[in-house]
Amino acid sequence: MTRFSRITGTGSHLPPRRLTNDDMVALLAPRGVETSDQWIIERTGIRARHFADDGVFASDLGVHAARAALQAAGRAAEDVDLIIVATSTPDMVFPSTAAIVQHKLGIAGCPAFDVQAVCSGFVYALTVADAMIRTGSANCALVIGSEIFSRLLDFNDRTTCVLFGDGAGAVVLEAANEPGILASDLHADGKHVGILCVPGHVAGGQVTGDPLLKMDGQAVFKLAVGVLEQAARTVLSKAGRSEQDIDWLIPHQANIRIMQGTAKKLKLPLDKLIVTVDQHGNTSAASIPLALDHAVRAGKVKAGDTVMLEGVGGGFTWGAVLLDF
Ligand code: ACO
Repeated sequence: MTRFSRITGTGSHLPPRRLTNDDMVALLAPRGVETSDQWIIERTGIRARHFADDGVFASDLGVHAARAALQAAGRAAEDVDLIIVATSTPDMVFPSTAAIVQHKLGIAGCPAFDVQAVCSGFVYALTVADAMIRTGSANCALVIGSEIFSRLLDFNDRTTCVLFGDGAGAVVLEAANEPGILASDLHADGKHVGILCVPGHVAGGQVTGDPLLKMDGQAVFKLAVGVLEQAARTVLSKAGRSEQDIDWLIPHQANIRIMQGTAKKLKLPLDKLIVTVDQHGNTSAASIPLALDHAVRAGKVKAGDTVMLEGVGGGFTWGAVLLDF
């Protein structure tokens, strides 16, 4: 019998410290950096974001999200036989955040590794987990996106520091006789490394180069709109479905204008677009599973709905996953 994979539970976690746009105005003012609630809302749709406190790591947020997803799936940590964490803000250079999550969940033995594809990380991780389940390498996977982007932000650069936030989302993905995951499409084009990057690295016991986020927002914007439409059309074609079959579009939550532009290109009414960027900001690899979990818990995404997940980000990377929930 053909094996498929299906999401059986979702979970998410936001660190408690919430900063509104006015809080960002107050945070930046002593540095002589000017911004406003109006500019941030008009250009991005963002109203608030969450920042983790010192001493809290991506694994901590990821464990909270994972426990919620396991509870929703009716599974115990001991049932998990694969852990993949999508993150660009790991606890350490190594070992992987996934290995740390595994230990914090009180389990041992199953494979655990990180996927680094920046804001496309969750669709990459979900695709890898789906492939491992289909080929019989796993039966019950935890796929987590967890980020503490606040630690990469340059608070002297108003063009980037108001955009990002911290958080985690997780799904339990299990073997099933019916899909589940219908089709995936992943891409990268390394020639665009410079338009979105954190160029620093660790060498000789110190950070060498600049360890803060750099982004050419307009270049990212232009690329994102085109590739998101392309990836969505490719997964629909692979799955033998059409735009009309999509019940919910959950794109990476970076900018409301990119998200609405993608929905319009797919001729989807905006009430099929799941939006959390207003409350979470851009949480990179965490944004899609966070938005999915919020939509599930709000009673929007229901069993049997067809959902399009779409990621785009540094690398440049992009991709989409179409699934029946
Ligand atoms: N507050 C007030 N003014 C600001 C701010 C701010 N926070 N930031 C920039 N400005 C000013 C600029 O200085 C500029 O002023 P000027 O005209 O006097 O020079 C003006 O606003 C316009 O700046 P632009 O950069 O042209 O603004 P734009 O409309 O392009 O919006 C933005 C910038 C929001 C970054 C947009 O380009 C964008 O969303 N890009 C895509 C980002 C994205 O999708 N990232 C996803 C991937 S993230 C990942 O992979 C980690």
